[in-house]
Amino acid sequence: AACASPLHSAQLTSIRFGMELGLGAPTSPPPWRGHLLFRALVIFLCLWVTSEANEQHVELPPRGWNSYDSFSWTVDENAYLQNAKILAEKLLPHGYQYAVIDYLWYRRYVDGAYTDSYGFDNIDEWGRPFPDLQRFPSSKYDKGFSQIANKVHEMGLKFGIHLMKGISTQAVNANTPILDIETGKPYVENGRQWAAHDIGLTHKTCAWMPHGFMSVNTDIGAGWAFLRSLYRQYADWGVDFVKVDCIFGTDYSPEEVITISQLLRELDRPIVLSISPGTEVTVPLAENISEHVNMYRITGDDWDNWKDVSTHFTVTSAFAAANKIGATGLRGKSWPDLDMLPFGWLTDPGVNQGPHRPCNLTFDEQKAQMTLWSMAKSPLIYGGDLRHLDNSTFSIMTNPTLLKINYYSKNNMEVPAF
Ligand SMILES: *[C@@H]1O[C@H](CO)[C@@H](O)[C@H](O)[C@H]1NC(C)=O
Ligand SMILES: *[C@@H]1O[C@H](CO)[C@@H](O)[C@H](O)[C@H]1NC(C)=O
Repeated sequence: AACASPLHSAQLTSIRFGMELGLGAPTSPPPWRGHLLFRALVIFLCLWVTSEANEQHVELPPRGWNSYDSFSWTVDENAYLQNAKILAEKLLPHGYQYAVIDYLWYRRYVDGAYTDSYGFDNIDEWGRPFPDLQRFPSSKYDKGFSQIANKVHEMGLKFGIHLMKGISTQAVNANTPILDIETGKPYVENGRQWAAHDIGLTHKTCAWMPHGFMSVNTDIGAGWAFLRSLYRQYADWGVDFVKVDCIFGTDYSPEEVITISQLLRELDRPIVLSISPGTEVTVPLAENISEHVNMYRITGDDWDNWKDVSTHFTVTSAFAAANKIGATGLRGKSWPDLDMLPFGWLTDPGVNQGPHRPCNLTFDEQKAQMTLWSMAKSPLIYGGDLRHLDNSTFSIMTNPTLLKINYYSKNNMEVPAF
């Protein structure tokens, strides 16, 4: 272990990082170094490089790619599989293994449909979302995502999907029956059949998508049965990773997080549980939750402007000080999640449009972001369209020093430098 004085080791890290990228020692101080010193604080890094990783479930912070920053909700099967292929070829050797389809894969991509539109979602007879067949043609004949999951697994990757909390408003309005996954028939308890009306909590809609989804009542067996029917189906499709949204931060729903966690524990298939959003997340809010999940967002959405990056410093330091990094989680460990890395070729937040513009951050700002994410041992999920991955972005995402720090450093803390 090399634990020099905090300032010294941070300087070393920044200089070594610059040199690994072939830039030599920085001539003028990059903006992020100024930022750290201006705060008179510095991340104290005590680096232990262990010879071999313990390969239990989520023993290390997960790495991968997610479609949101480059496609918003409009990704389709072709674009997704093209990205997955490049992920497997270029980034999988560096640990990036999860390929995640982000939100609204069940929404029809037609005029009038947008993030909080109502009435455009595919819902099966049991009130469960199924993929938009136009965008995901391999889903036809009730195959769900199983064909895509097979292809992703053949590439050596793991398959992930984004989910919303609870039940869709469309299902509640249609009062769909609840599937009892054990019998294949409608769920019966106390001599009667239960349906969506019984479990949808109309006063607990998703804060950022109030027309789309609401919490379900997990105090009753029917609520559990519904969630079980969802997660069993995802496991049957071959899902390895779920990012459940509207369940944390401003949408804090501890009962549902704990229920989902229990349901995932029932499965033979280990599935990584990632929760969001991260807006207004504090250490006390995570206290009773981290042990039930594998990663949880601790900030709002991170986009490619320096303000978003700089707001991550304080909250990261608080979670480090509270020893939350790599604490006990679902079937393994849990990781405070600083959100995706929006580098390369991107879209804009919440739009109906795919990738169409380059990242707004400077190269120095991108390096600073990757450095903070690595020191914080955050999951590293690339957000740009991999079909346009350029060499400098690739060099940041695969910097060997940072990737080692991200996996193997210990007790990383922010401490006063003076
Ligand atoms: C966490 O759990 C403890 C003990 O059950 C409880 O007192 C506390 O209020 C909970 N905190 C939150 C933020 O829910
Ligand atoms: C990126 O820059 C463009 C042009 O200045 C601006 O319109 C856009 O809002 C920026 N995007 C983000 C996410 O900051």
